[in-house]
Amino acid sequence: MNHARQVEVLKEIFRHIDANTTPMADAPYWNPVGRYASEEHLQRELATLFGGAMPLLAGFSPDLPAPGSWLTHDLPGAPIVLVRDHDRKVRAFLNICRHRGSRLLGFEMDDQGQLLHARGTTPKVMTCPYHAWVYDHKGSLLRHANDMGGFRQIEADMACGKFNLVELPCVETDGMLLVRPKGDAPIDVPRDTYGMHTRMGEFGFKDYHFHREVFREFNANWKLLMDTFMEGYHIASLHHSTLAPRFRCYPVIVESFGPHTLFPLTRKSVDAQRHLPESQWSVLQHASTVFVVAPNAVLNIPMDGHVELWDFTPLSAGRTRVRLRFYVPQPITTEDQQVLWDKSWKVTTDVIFGEDFVQQQNIQANLASGRIPGIVFGANEPALIHFHRALGRLTGVSDAPLP
Ligand code: FES
Ligand SMILES: [Fe+2]
Repeated sequence: MNHARQVEVLKEIFRHIDANTTPMADAPYWNPVGRYASEEHLQRELATLFGGAMPLLAGFSPDLPAPGSWLTHDLPGAPIVLVRDHDRKVRAFLNICRHRGSRLLGFEMDDQGQLLHARGTTPKVMTCPYHAWVYDHKGSLLRHANDMGGFRQIEADMACGKFNLVELPCVETDGMLLVRPKGDAPIDVPRDTYGMHTRMGEFGFKDYHFHREVFREFNANWKLLMDTFMEGYHIASLHHSTLAPRFRCYPVIVESFGPHTLFPLTRKSVDAQRHLPESQWSVLQHASTVFVVAPNAVLNIPMDGHVELWDFTPLSAGRTRVRLRFYVPQPITTEDQQVLWDKSWKVTTDVIFGEDFVQQQNIQANLASGRIPGIVFGANEPALIHFHRALGRLTGVSDAPLP
């Protein structure tokens, strides 16, 4: 967020603090239970949001630091692997070997079925673990040794690319990696991000360093887990002893870019700046800056300087795999830095996993009971309303009337 925009946002924040108000949506919004609990609705979302034309945020440039770096991005119906080739160009492929369909990279799982490796480096070529077919970083099939001539009749097809990896549209822009999971239409960055790429680009993600990541599964709809990032209303109550002493619930100044949104969740310290010259004003130093990148990613940039990328993969209407990644501004070279970022990681995971997601799991169980017809977002929760209304439009479902 450039300084001029931060001053604008701060003036709005101070106005609202003085008047004890917050920006409001036009009216409360009704969300029927089926949007969270119906498998049929999830199928609609999978077709339109996850397996459709919409590009998804798969990660940041520092996920692929060197030629040969790879990163998996598994979606329902589309296991994806991103690879930086020797020209430093990032390419995305279906992570499916063209022989008999093995995962090519990131295939090791633990006994719970959880991926053990979702990133790594394959400096020269990509080799399938099953029968060792070899592909280059551009996805071309190079070798299929030890096959006793078993593919002789289709050698010509192999040579002309019919058994190359399936490549997907992918771009690296402003430090972000965007992938379209289906189709071959190139990604048009300004159009597909509705202009939000410039606002994200101001954070310089390409200069960050990957720190650590975790995959966890929760018994809650993917949107319910995302909902928890989209309002400050719950901070005073749910986070009364963790975040509430430092964070304000209101005001939340929301900017939208198509289905995406950007808003700072401000700390109480924000208010003290009004007595400083405007040239010293900062939102970023007194807030967690949140980008909701539709359909399924949330980017949180707290004032301590790290970047958190959350993404949410539906496994069923009531179960979601969450991936949390941390990026830090400098490579970690000292024990003090390690202690600092480990502490930050612990605070984040304690609060979000231990307070927010536990809460969302109990909501999911209540919604799945079928005993209430829907839930209601207040006009004081405008980012939530914007997100659900936008997803409704993208999935072809109209707003439900308030009961
Ligand atoms: S499935 Fe990949 S080499 Fe056989
Ligand atoms: Fe929360």
